[in-house]
Amino acid sequence: MQIKCENIKYIYNPKDPNSYYALDDISLEIEKGDFVAIVGKTGSGKSTLIQTFNGLILPTSGYSQVEYFYITSDKKLFKSKIKNLSKQEQIDNKKQYMLRKKVGMVFQFPEYQLFAETVLKDVMFGPRNFKVPEEEAKELSKKALSEVGISEEYYEKSPFELSGGEKRRVAIAGILASNPDILILDEPTAGLDPDGKKDLIKLIKEIHESGKTVILVTHDMDVVMECASKVVVLNDAKLMKICTPEELFNGDDFETFALEIPTFYKFKKMLIEKGYKKDISSINDFDSLMGVLGEKHE
Ligand SMILES: Nc1ncnc2c1ncn2[C@@H]1O[C@H](COP(=O)(O)OP(=O)(O)O)[C@@H](O)[C@H]1O
Ligand SMILES: [Mg+2]
Repeated sequence: MQIKCENIKYIYNPKDPNSYYALDDISLEIEKGDFVAIVGKTGSGKSTLIQTFNGLILPTSGYSQVEYFYITSDKKLFKSKIKNLSKQEQIDNKKQYMLRKKVGMVFQFPEYQLFAETVLKDVMFGPRNFKVPEEEAKELSKKALSEVGISEEYYEKSPFELSGGEKRRVAIAGILASNPDILILDEPTAGLDPDGKKDLIKLIKEIHESGKTVILVTHDMDVVMECASKVVVLNDAKLMKICTPEELFNGDDFETFALEIPTFYKFKKMLIEKGYKKDISSINDFDSLMGVLGEKHE
């Protein structure tokens, strides 16, 4: 396991008499190389959960863990957890930037965080922030820009001259330039047009295939079905389910999560409701379904 949460709870503004848990007793595990989708209606705690993975949010109780890094505001628990680590690992645990470098986070609407005069300088900000020397940072940034499909003629442009999809690619390059092992993206396709969305999903899949663990917060169930190996379902701060996309969309409880049904499952459900005779309950993709539909009827 690469990431773990053990009974984490989180309260924003704990002193406020009206405060409530934004995360309520969540435990889960994520393996290296997983492609995890985090889903749930607005306000269910998705953004809060992912921010515990890079230490921007410290669980009020319980802990999140990324490899040997422990993340909690419970000092006693933290001490007891790091006690068995090597000396070096204990020291690393106290350096925030080491965890931030390991876990790259692309926030929702990352284009709002572009600020440098040029695209290249903006991307270089990440590695420079992690103390990478100028020339090396430049090389890493060029490589990251090429990975996200931004060509050389863009290097000296102002980020503000770019289209929405391009801005978002530059923002992702800014994270990739520090070569994180884990990439977290919070609703990366929100507000993009269909082509921009398709291209971005393709890019995220390529990043996953290059060997990184990817965690994607999304409302788009077609994307979940297409990309995710594992789905984490949150509702009102609680963990409802961890399962495969197939288990989620075929599950009897699916409707209780207020999630959109993917196009494929909408179609399959319609067929079953209209009385289609063959058993298609275990079919989970269009190709296999078309195969069955194309067979001769007896
Ligand atoms: N900075 C904050 N201060 C107070 N409450 C917050 C803050 N951020 C989020 N919340 C509340 O915490 C809950 C979970 O929010 P969030 O993690 O952003 O949900 P999601 O990403 O699933 O929409 C929501 O009820 C939200 O209003
Ligand atoms: Mg959110």
